[in-house]
Amino acid sequence: MAHRALRQMMLDRLGPSVWAKVERETGTGPADLISLCVYDDSKTIALISASAAHLGMAVDEALRVFGRYWVRFAELSSFGPIMDFTGQDLVTFINNLDRMHRSVVLAMPDARVPSFTLIDETRERLLVRYRSDRIGLETFVIGLLEGLMDRLNETGTVELFERSGSAIDFAIHLDRT
Ligand code: HEM
Repeated sequence: MAHRALRQMMLDRLGPSVWAKVERETGTGPADLISLCVYDDSKTIALISASAAHLGMAVDEALRVFGRYWVRFAELSSFGPIMDFTGQDLVTFINNLDRMHRSVVLAMPDARVPSFTLIDETRERLLVRYRSDRIGLETFVIGLLEGLMDRLNETGTVELFERSGSAIDFAIHLDRT
């Protein structure tokens, strides 16, 4: 599903000929784009890197843009209703995110999903702890949290706040007066 979302983002931004190049450069075929499969991370990284090069972005920046795009892609996909149930405000959504991912794992037993915990909440700032057995996805998480803000009609900024052991904390600064 991530690959199909990436393909759609690249088609939107740069059109079919550039996506055809990305597929050629990474040896991607239709079988790699079936939506309910779980892939090798190396395949995903190769697709993101090739796409980033065509977008003229660093890989981290492309991951962030892709994270933000993913939220819109998921809401238009068959997962839209799941997003609706997960929450209509940021705090509820983040608090339900692990349950939502667990329900997705029931359909895709090989998926390795991360865990998110809301560890501090004030009116203007949410601190979210992220745990994963993958590394290097920090800017993807920032993009996802930005995408969630877009979806839930919030504005503000997201930053990597601090690393604590194997967990990474992100701060969401909300524009609230
Ligand atoms: C309906 C929407 C969503 C669905 C269906 C979904 C499903 C999934 C699945 C299946 C994976 C594992 C992929 C694999 O192991 O190959 C995954 C990974 C991930 N999800 Fe979600 N997800 C959704 C929304 C979100 C949202 C809103 C966030 C964050 C705010 C999020 C954060 C992540 C991250 C960071 C990963 C990467 C894996 C990792 O960090 O270990 N997801 N998701």
